[in-house]
Amino acid sequence: MKSSTLNPNYGFNTLSIHAGEPHPCSQNAHVAPIYQSSTYSFPSAEEGGQIFKGEKEGYVYGRMGSPNMTIVSEKVAALEGRDLILAKHAAGETDFTVEAHAFSSGMNAITTLMLTLLKPGDTIIAQSSLYGGTVGLFNNLLTKYNIKVVWVAHGTLAAFEQTIAKFPEAKLVYCETPANPTLEIVDIEGVANLAHTHNMPLVVDNTFATPYLQRPLALGADWVIHSTTKYIGGHGVVVGGMVVSPYFKTLSDELLSNMHNTGGVPSPFDAWLLNMGLKTLPLRMDRHCDNAEKIAAYLENHPKVSKVWYPGLESHTGHDLAKKQMKRYGGMISFELKGGLDAGIKMMDSIQLMILAVSLGTVDTLIQHPASMTHAKVPVDQRHAAGITDGLVRVSIGLENIEDLLTDFDQALAKV
Ligand SMILES: Cc1ncc(COP(=O)(O)O)c(C=O)c1O
Repeated sequence: MKSSTLNPNYGFNTLSIHAGEPHPCSQNAHVAPIYQSSTYSFPSAEEGGQIFKGEKEGYVYGRMGSPNMTIVSEKVAALEGRDLILAKHAAGETDFTVEAHAFSSGMNAITTLMLTLLKPGDTIIAQSSLYGGTVGLFNNLLTKYNIKVVWVAHGTLAAFEQTIAKFPEAKLVYCETPANPTLEIVDIEGVANLAHTHNMPLVVDNTFATPYLQRPLALGADWVIHSTTKYIGGHGVVVGGMVVSPYFKTLSDELLSNMHNTGGVPSPFDAWLLNMGLKTLPLRMDRHCDNAEKIAAYLENHPKVSKVWYPGLESHTGHDLAKKQMKRYGGMISFELKGGLDAGIKMMDSIQLMILAVSLGTVDTLIQHPASMTHAKVPVDQRHAAGITDGLVRVSIGLENIEDLLTDFDQALAKV
């Protein structure tokens, strides 16, 4: 199925709705249906052979792609690639494109990309405050295959510069911005320039920001990763991942064949749900930001809260950088309760509207207390070293009425 080619000059909202959508669809449906099929028929043996050899477009088998995967991937490519595509076209590179490929989870996207870009004996440079699953993958799986991981102590440009200068043989630089739990902001353009002087590609996990708030490829990143489970899906009903890059042409055979051979693809239904989620991404992100900005300001003035981490607050160390490279500041907030562990547990047991759950980026507000929940088994020293203090609470602000969220915070904080 060939998706409609859309003028990249269209605005972000238009691309969110229309990019990747084939017209006409089967039965003239205005939205592509769910192609719930594990295998695809060939019109003839000859055409089947041509499709297998890649001489003709077509689908073969669900693990190697489906129409719904194509649609959502083309949409994400248009959204992440828009600025860069327009700049390259204006500079005369009229055939410049950006590609995206959908995976069954964010972790599967990261794993497949790392196994494709790296080989035993290689070194990589990574920011230390990455998502815990990524840290686990790097520390456990990559090191088992003799890939060395050098952790950058802080997300500052100076720290990246020192580490890159010390390990110029490294094969790539990996970062996440904003990053857990302190919403650390990394200077994407600055780190990309440093990495490129040593021929290292920069991989950026853009899950927290989404392409609506930040477009790392236009800032110089080479590969963008998403856990589409979060804001891209938006409703907390799908687990998925995405890899986006202009370099699929040079690496496509290897990355795609690794994807096909490891089998981490989304189901047609999941890909369809992600495509539905993306159509409202800009609207949702603006509302996440509206609510989060108000709640961050409220928490910063609350007597039971000692510290708030939100890039939209002037008190956040990454505020100026976030202002430069992001459209707005996102929906994630972390804060520290003065009462420590007990206060965290009491607050979690007192919420009435917010949902006590991990994950993020959903229409409903999700709140969690890592010290008593996700990190309860981690030894205290190790937990503190990772920035997970006793009173730290993380909240993914949803789209509810702001008054109702503030009422829930008020009554829950009154009990700690
Ligand atoms: C920033 C970030 N990257 C990657 C992942 C992994 O994504 P998934 O859970 O879809 O595998 C997560 C999950 O929480 C995340 O927060």
